[in-house]
Amino acid sequence: MTLQRTFSIIKPDAVKKGATGDILHMLQHAGFNIIGMKMLEITKQQAEGFYAVHASRPFFNSLTTFMSSGPIVVLALEKENAIADLRKLMGATDPAKADSGTIRKKHAASIEANAIHGSDAEETAKFELNYFFAGYELAG
Ligand code: CMP
Repeated sequence: MTLQRTFSIIKPDAVKKGATGDILHMLQHAGFNIIGMKMLEITKQQAEGFYAVHASRPFFNSLTTFMSSGPIVVLALEKENAIADLRKLMGATDPAKADSGTIRKKHAASIEANAIHGSDAEETAKFELNYFFAGYELAG
């Protein structure tokens, strides 16, 4: 399989509790190459744009408020089978259902404050990478 890119966010809950370093370590230990990384805060409007596919969901308002509540770390990651492998390493959306050894099992507090986001498909990975990174920022 050829190299694939995916996009990830270390969410405000994980940054706030000082889990950034451990999550980066877990990603690198699992073979992900970090080709782009920055810490920033986004506005509610920018969170709404990012999560536009969830606009009709009941949790949309709460989710976008949470995602704009503090610093996040956005990551461009590269690896063979990166999209599926990141989802596996993250664990289930609901940390109560996450397998041991996963990032969410270790660091997530709730279904909303669940430590990390990862793209769920190739099309979304493209959209999400482009949302936060310009081509020249990626050290591919
Ligand atoms: P994420 O992978 O970032 O994509 C959408 C996010 O919505 C998800 O992680 C959760 O943090 C958040 N969310 C909040 N409530 C729910 C819910 N009931 N079901 C699924 N996702 C939820």
